[in-house]
Amino acid sequence: MKELFNQYIQNLETYIMFRIKDEVERLTPELEAKGRSPISLAMGAPTSNPPLFVIDKLKSILDERGIHTYSVPKGELYFRKAVSERMKIKYNVDVTPDEVISLIGSKEGIANMIRALINPIPNEKEKDIILIPDPGYASYSQMVITSGGYPYSVPLTIQNRYRPDLDEVLDNLKKDGFNPKKVKALIINYPNNPLGVSVDRNYYRHVVDFCRRNKILLISDAAYIDIYFGNEERPISILEIEGAKDVAVEFFSFSKPYSMTGWRLGWVCGNKEAISMFGKLKSTIDSGLFKALQKASAELLNSIEGDRYIVEENNKFRLKRNEFVNGLKGLGWPDFHVPDSTFYVWAPIPPRFKTSQEFTSYVLQKSGIVLVPGNAFGKNGEGFFRASVVCSENDLYTCIERLRQDGIFYNV
Ligand SMILES: Cc1ncc(COP(=O)(O)O)c(C=O)c1O
Repeated sequence: MKELFNQYIQNLETYIMFRIKDEVERLTPELEAKGRSPISLAMGAPTSNPPLFVIDKLKSILDERGIHTYSVPKGELYFRKAVSERMKIKYNVDVTPDEVISLIGSKEGIANMIRALINPIPNEKEKDIILIPDPGYASYSQMVITSGGYPYSVPLTIQNRYRPDLDEVLDNLKKDGFNPKKVKALIINYPNNPLGVSVDRNYYRHVVDFCRRNKILLISDAAYIDIYFGNEERPISILEIEGAKDVAVEFFSFSKPYSMTGWRLGWVCGNKEAISMFGKLKSTIDSGLFKALQKASAELLNSIEGDRYIVEENNKFRLKRNEFVNGLKGLGWPDFHVPDSTFYVWAPIPPRFKTSQEFTSYVLQKSGIVLVPGNAFGKNGEGFFRASVVCSENDLYTCIERLRQDGIFYNV
């Protein structure tokens, strides 16, 4: 059977987070036996309950007539209107309901947008190219590869302050023997997973200008736009930048701000033509979201309860981030970038470990703490690990105590 599947699927590895989950399951009896039951700092999935408001809404909507029948692939008008209002209220951005499409989570949307862009061609150097952040969300490269494209890394490094000069990236792409005309899109993701960094308007202006000059689609993944702690400016929507709508679409998710990962809800909005092309593909592969989910979440989007929930959760994430960062420092970790957004901590591995994978495997087997190796996010992630501080404060405290008891210090 295997040979019947296309070459990309044959060579594909299961997504890293699910591989980690399987490995943890395999090791659980052994870890429990030595008093080190697994504590997961791996998945980017908040563990709080969603706002009570949306659960109550959903329950009441379930009895409505007609709510259980097919929706439409682009989403019900009430959902798209609520998004349009949210974009106006939060970002002062004008998108009409026709420039919005509902998604079965932003992961589905980004994967299908990529699929809609790429012409699959087997020859490596002739493939359509998508520029992806490195380190970045591990799914991007898999999405591009399985669509028959080539994911070209845009390096996010301490040296470039995580704001790469995109003209330099294009020069390097040419030097590497690729045809710049094959570049179809640039994916950006600020606040960034796994780095926890966001950027200012000036950098966004450079990004929009680059995409306009090179006539490529700008895909902004704003999954973490609501998760921030600084006193400075909130993370901005790319669509706030003048001229962005000529080249950009932006993906949003209910998963992270409202702890609704299992509901699978998101939206994409922006450039009308791109949204319409994407809508055609969506209409062939899904028939829209359960209407009750759309209705309940539409009411949540612009509610006081929803806004209050985000503020409260962010306060908890900030406290937990501080607890974990300080805990690492107490174990000898040198200063590293403290994230101003997202619920991720991105820290260097102790120097005695040769690779991120070696470190995270050691910590799992010794202490039962589940971390993600930095190289899972791209080659620039080597030498780092990611911890997601979504568990309870008590669990985080236990993690730091276990590292101490098990002799896992930065310099030992
Ligand atoms: C950067 C980024 N984008 C998108 C997603 C997908 O989120 P969802 O499909 O739950 O909306 C994630 C999930 O971890 C993510 O980290």
